[in-house]
Amino acid sequence: MNENQPQNYDSTDLDRLHAAVKREKPDAQPGREPLSAPVLVAAFVLTILGGGYLGAYTHVSGFSFDQSNAFAGKPVDPRPVKLADGPALDAFQFAMKKGASVYNNCVGCHQPSGLGLPGVNPPLAGSEWVLGGTERLARIAMHGLMGPVTVKGTNFNNVMVAPPLSDTEIGQVLTYIRNSWGNQGSMVTKEMVVKAREVAGNHAGPWKAEELLPFADKDIPGEIPAGPGATVAPAAAPAAK
Ligand code: HEC
Repeated sequence: MNENQPQNYDSTDLDRLHAAVKREKPDAQPGREPLSAPVLVAAFVLTILGGGYLGAYTHVSGFSFDQSNAFAGKPVDPRPVKLADGPALDAFQFAMKKGASVYNNCVGCHQPSGLGLPGVNPPLAGSEWVLGGTERLARIAMHGLMGPVTVKGTNFNNVMVAPPLSDTEIGQVLTYIRNSWGNQGSMVTKEMVVKAREVAGNHAGPWKAEELLPFADKDIPGEIPAGPGATVAPAAAPAAK
C-alpha cells in the first residue's frame, strides 16, 4: 500500500463533483427567457386559424384560386343565398340569384360584362347561341364547344371545356346568362337539363358548332315555373305590401 495516499481516497468523488458543476447552466439573461409552452401553443393555433381565414375570405384580384381556375367546380362566393330577408323569391328570381354565383365558373373567359374577349372567347351578351334553343345551349354547358363558330357575325375558333357543374347549377347559370346584360329568355330548369342529358347521351369532349346546328331553335320541353314565358300560373299572388 502506498503511504502517500490518503486512507479513504475515492476517485469517483472528483468525478461526481465535476458532473454536478457541468450540469449547471447559467441563468437566462433578463428578456431572453424561453416562451412558456401555453403561449407557444396559442400562437400556433392563432397562426393556423388566421391563415385559414385569409385563405377563405380574401379574393385579391388574380390571386384567388377559384377566380383564376376557370374549371373550378364550386362557385367562389361562400355566402349562402339568403331567402329570409326581403320578399320571397319565385323560382325564376331564385335561379337568377344562384346563377349569378355559378357564373363565377364562366366569368374568367366570358367576362363580367358578358362580352367575352375579342378573338378568343365569344360574347354571351346578345348571342344567338344563348338566346336561341335551350337544347343547344344546354349541350354547350354540359360538354363544351370547339372549332369554328360564328357568334353575332364574328368568327371564333377556340375550345371551351365545360366546367363540371350539377344539372341544377347548369339550369341556374343558363337562366342567368339568358337574362343578363340586356338578354331576355325563358328559364332553364334542372328538369330540362336532366332531359337534355338523357337525349345527348354520354358525349365525349366538346361539341362542334355544326353538330349543334340542327338544334338551333329547339327548346327542351318542360314547364317554365316563373319568369319570361312562364307556363305555370303563379301559385297564389303574394299579399300586397
Ligand atoms: C376556358 C374558357 C371558358 C369557360 C370557363 C367557359 N367558356 Fe363558354 N366558350 C368559350 C369559348 C372559347 C367558346 C367558343 C368555342 C369555339 O370556338 O368553338 C365558348 C362558347 C360558349 C357559348 C356559345 C357561343 C356564345 O358565345 O354564345 C356559350 C353559350 C358559352 N360558351 C357558355 C358558357 C357558360 C355558361 C360557361 C360557364 C358555365 C362557360 N361558357 C365557360 C370559353 C369558355
